[in-house]
Amino acid sequence: MARKKITMIGGGQIGGNLALLAAQKELGDVIIFDIPRAEGMVKGKALDLMQLRPHDGHDSNITGTSDWNDVKGTDVFIITAGIPRKPGMDREDLLGINLGIMKDVATNIKEQAPNAFVIVISNPLDAMVYAFYKVSGFSKNQVVGMAGALDSGRFRAFIAMETGFSVQDVTCMVLGGHGDTMVPVTRLATVGGVPVTDLISAERLKEIEDRTRVAGGEIVKLFGNGSAFYAPAQSAIEMAESYIRDKKRVIPCASLCEGEFGVDGYFIGVPTVIGAGGVEKVLEFSLTEEEKAGLNKTLDAVKKTVAETGL
Ligand code: APR
Repeated sequence: MARKKITMIGGGQIGGNLALLAAQKELGDVIIFDIPRAEGMVKGKALDLMQLRPHDGHDSNITGTSDWNDVKGTDVFIITAGIPRKPGMDREDLLGINLGIMKDVATNIKEQAPNAFVIVISNPLDAMVYAFYKVSGFSKNQVVGMAGALDSGRFRAFIAMETGFSVQDVTCMVLGGHGDTMVPVTRLATVGGVPVTDLISAERLKEIEDRTRVAGGEIVKLFGNGSAFYAPAQSAIEMAESYIRDKKRVIPCASLCEGEFGVDGYFIGVPTVIGAGGVEKVLEFSLTEEEKAGLNKTLDAVKKTVAETGL
């Protein structure tokens, strides 16, 4: 079977880690694409990664480019093109610059690989994934945003840190937009099947939820320049792997809802089945009144940033 072709659009902090992880998992051959000004940087990263291969024995081919023709026939794109946050900025502050970039990227991807599966990471995520979808004209199965996977992962990490139990056994889900209004569904969180509500006090759980909502900002503050990259990269690779290997994993993702959870026409974080068909299904379940109210609030925030795109 021919190897898949995975292209990272944007070869910065997240893009570089995406390339490393995709190669190590042997998801396929990897291309790191960036603007001409950053061509040397991505060619250098690709070469460095090629020279890592003898140490862990994978055979993926990794190349860097700033020529759109080189990405022709790509199976999976992961887009991080854009600028990251600085302290004091929220994700919405990035909209002006990153929207222009996303329009350019969507137009080129449509031309080079109209059948590809596309994972968007650039922020503000809820607006960027919507912009990609609108400008490319791709089907809703082909386009998904990486947010819930990361937000849920952060929630899981904090629960594991609190209990001291293996993070592997913590399951939970965060719904809604990728911003401070996201909705951690604590009611359904478990450690090895045991409800977290039986393991952690309500007061501490509330603090963990609050920390999860601003977890990206916590890292932005610590860095002083730039935003998180290891966990965002790993989260997106999980999604790409589920597509490439048809694993049908259920991952919270920003998927286009058309009636699910009462949301119509917006990408919002919901449990999503990712398989060979791309976004194969959104899994709906009943929410409590409080969760519904939380989801409505996050939907208002998503609608606001999407309206600002003018698309
Ligand atoms: N096409 C391709 N790449 C581009 C374009 C473009 N039109 N414009 C900018 N880039 C590249 C930059 O040159 C840079 O190498 O995108 C890369 C972004 O990398 P970083 O600045 O290191 O940012 P990173 O931390 O990877 O975050 C990228 O993901 O989580 C979000 O908020 C974050 O929007 C940001 C994005």
